[in-house]
Amino acid sequence: MKKIVLTGAAGRLGSYLREPLAAMCDTLVSSDLTEDIGKLYDGETYVRADLASLPDMKALLEGADMVVHFGAIGDEAPFDAILQSNIVGAYNVWEAAYQNGVRRVVYASSVHAVGMHKSSDGIGTDAAHRPDTYYGLAKCFAEDLASLYWDKRGVESVCMRIFSCAKVTNPRAVGTWLSYDDLIHLVERAISTPVTGFSVVYGISDNDRAPVDNTKANFLGYRPKDNAEQFAKEIYANSEPLDPADLAHQCIGGPFATVELGNSGVATLNIVDDAKKT
Ligand SMILES: NC(=O)c1ccc[n+]([C@@H]2O[C@H](COP(=O)([O-])OP(=O)(O)OC[C@H]3O[C@@H](n4cnc5c(N)ncnc54)[C@H](O)[C@@H]3O)[C@@H](O)[C@H]2O)c1
Repeated sequence: MKKIVLTGAAGRLGSYLREPLAAMCDTLVSSDLTEDIGKLYDGETYVRADLASLPDMKALLEGADMVVHFGAIGDEAPFDAILQSNIVGAYNVWEAAYQNGVRRVVYASSVHAVGMHKSSDGIGTDAAHRPDTYYGLAKCFAEDLASLYWDKRGVESVCMRIFSCAKVTNPRAVGTWLSYDDLIHLVERAISTPVTGFSVVYGISDNDRAPVDNTKANFLGYRPKDNAEQFAKEIYANSEPLDPADLAHQCIGGPFATVELGNSGVATLNIVDDAKKT
């Protein structure tokens, strides 16, 4: 592959994807809002670009084979903020992909597109959208955009509904963890599967307590190797008993299921910033 574009490259997940993506193509063009992303990997260049600008996205995606779209506000936020980076931003990425003849968008969707479903329902990848926040609603918009651009314009996409891609620090994550190694493997499969059309897959490790079913995405060859059960004993020993009546414990969106619209859901998750250093 000649050129892959990575948006959100300065973010935590982007920091883990840059090196393996650079190894998959002649040129990786990493992009974000920051002026300078620091040291580059072999084969990587950096371009500052705003997702909310269609001209920026058109220039960024010129000559690209695929775009790995991870740029977004990664949390619940007021609607106007979500509207620009996550909704208009998604439109600009898919439209720029179409105008530049880019084959596929590999998209960081989220569990929060379906966050109000119950863990006990064991939903598959074909479950109806059921967002838990404006953030989740924007992921629903982008997934529907992906479906539309495949049906009407032939742009392929893989929408990866990522769960908890961070250090395991709470009981929910024992079911919802996605390890960084499994994230990299998932993105590699989303890129290298010969034909994907429009598809949806859950970004989750091989956890004993995973609350969703990836069977219908088997064709992608995503076979996660990590399992958060290794953390279960310690996490449960150090946690208060969970309230079964609390929607935050019933729904797969966790605390996003009960947070007020527009307020941070991540703030309650005790996320450790362990971004990879170059
Ligand atoms: N971390 C997780 O567990 C998780 C779970 C589900 C989905 N996701 C999704 O994965 C992606 C990356 O998540 P992350 O945890 O690395 O988040 P992050 O906040 O660390 O990174 C997101 C990056 O997007 C950039 N960005 C935001 N608005 C932009 C704009 N208008 N133009 C250009 N760049 C912009 C930010 O500057 C940031 O560097 C996001 O789309 C997020 O919604 C993450």
